[in-house]
Amino acid sequence: MTRIKVGVLASGRGTNLQAIIDASESGKIDADIVVVISDKKDAYALERAKKHGIPAYFVDPKGKSREEHEKEIDEILRKYNVDLVVGAGYMRILSPWFIRRWYGKIINIHPALLPSFKGTDGQGDALRYGVKITGCTTHFMDELPDHGPIILQAAVKVKDDDTRDSLAERILKVEHQLLPRTIQLFAEGRLKIEGRRVKILPGDSWKEKYETYPDVLYCEGY
Ligand code: GRF
Repeated sequence: MTRIKVGVLASGRGTNLQAIIDASESGKIDADIVVVISDKKDAYALERAKKHGIPAYFVDPKGKSREEHEKEIDEILRKYNVDLVVGAGYMRILSPWFIRRWYGKIINIHPALLPSFKGTDGQGDALRYGVKITGCTTHFMDELPDHGPIILQAAVKVKDDDTRDSLAERILKVEHQLLPRTIQLFAEGRLKIEGRRVKILPGDSWKEKYETYPDVLYCEGY
């Protein structure tokens, strides 16, 4: 099987990036991360990339329009012949211009069960609202934030004594499963967008191949 080339956008510590790097290096996914781009100079994600010999770019948004900033990012992604762009904790809203250029080839992970709790603190918002179940979602990106067609979801219980951070950590462990799995489904050509719905073509299941958390409900396609 040919391996796809993945470009990752990240703003923070990059544990999701690390999960993809690990899955790539161990052969769990047929994908190579060929470039990591950040809008934050000190993002630890850039260090993680460098440690694994992956080209890492800081693209400074300061003093540029959104389109100028994204044009630079777009040029880097094209230079590396990226097949799939992955938002892994990229905290900047992408313009319709950028999204249109990559539609169907750009995915994101969100730490809540969309369409609930969009935005930058999906875990804290879920806890404050009082839901008993939350989780995480991977989706194709479209022109609205946290809105595009959903690929995979997994449901995580909220515990009585959860803090925002304990809940975020429990969800994060599941994000680290869902994101590589989503990339592998894309690499296998098994994701078909039909309007708002993503059809997952038949094939193997990670539920049968790899360990799962007994308390977590994984959607079809995991
Ligand atoms: C994750 O919870 C992701 O879902 C959200 O931001 C966080 C990024 O974490 N969008 P990391 O940088 O991958 O560790």
